[in-house]
Amino acid sequence: MQTSSAAAPDGAEFELSPPPGGLGFSPSATWDPVAVAAADHAARHWQWPEPGPLRPGTEAHERAVARMFRETFNPYKPTIIDWPKLTPEARERLISLPIWDIAVQTEGKARLRMVSYANSVTNPQWREAIGLNGWEEGRHKVVLANLVAAYGIALEPEPAYIEPRDTEWAYLVTGFSECIDSFFAFGLFALAKRSGFFPPELVDTFEPVMQEECRHILLFANWLAAHRARLPWWRRIAFEARVAAVWAFLGWERIGIARGMDDDRSGGKAKDTAKAQDNNFTVTGSKAVSDVDVKLGELMALCLAENDRRFAGYDARLRRPTTAPFLARLARRFLPRG
Ligand SMILES: [Fe+2]
Ligand SMILES: [Fe+2]
Repeated sequence: MQTSSAAAPDGAEFELSPPPGGLGFSPSATWDPVAVAAADHAARHWQWPEPGPLRPGTEAHERAVARMFRETFNPYKPTIIDWPKLTPEARERLISLPIWDIAVQTEGKARLRMVSYANSVTNPQWREAIGLNGWEEGRHKVVLANLVAAYGIALEPEPAYIEPRDTEWAYLVTGFSECIDSFFAFGLFALAKRSGFFPPELVDTFEPVMQEECRHILLFANWLAAHRARLPWWRRIAFEARVAAVWAFLGWERIGIARGMDDDRSGGKAKDTAKAQDNNFTVTGSKAVSDVDVKLGELMALCLAENDRRFAGYDARLRRPTTAPFLARLARRFLPRG
């Protein structure tokens, strides 16, 4: 792979710019295992050196979050990823995952929404951190586009990415979506690794992307807590109504897509699912990444354990996302243990 551009089948190209805020790519032009391991460690471990509490809404919390996000930046260049050769069976399994279009488009949408929100924020710390988050979504898109090209996966033409008018709403939708998707993806990823369904080198290639999603939802949870803390009570009420509306929207969107999938599988007339793309894959995909029959309760336990493991290296005073783990713990009470 010689290029950093993500080629869409309709000919549209997305060029990956250098990282923003004076950050750079790793200087190594090749896959240097020592440098990769050091960057990986730095991306997973971070402590704020000042003692005392980090209360959301305070200047210290703001500085800590911004520093965390910047100092855990992983400078890998998508072009140095060496895609492993797959057996015909493993390639078939990979190609038939119903996620590639939705994954590429989700990264493209997330990039634009985060960058748009960052540009509307006046506080320089949040502006820089959320802008970098948006840039990293663009890098994910390039990683996926390179993978798709390397294994000959055919994609549908991408839709036009439209700049959101309401940037805060768009950021909230993207942020909460990532909190749900990442939580389940952590468990599915561990399952894929354990099952040996895909070669370990391929799974390892995605490890930095997974950890990056953990950093993203860490940033989002702390931005959300700080944003809440800074609002006067009357604006806080309006904001909480907005958050509730975002959750309702996400529920409706996911139920709608699940229905579309069912229609498509049963030969119905679902318009948006010509290739049966699954936006709920992170919730429903355990069978596609493992040949072991995994009980839902077991999957929840794995997601919770992986969630704790991935967040463990970051300063304990920073906020963590709470809703998806809470719902998973609740669900476990009603599900048979495996
Ligand atoms: Fe992403
Ligand atoms: Fe993300």
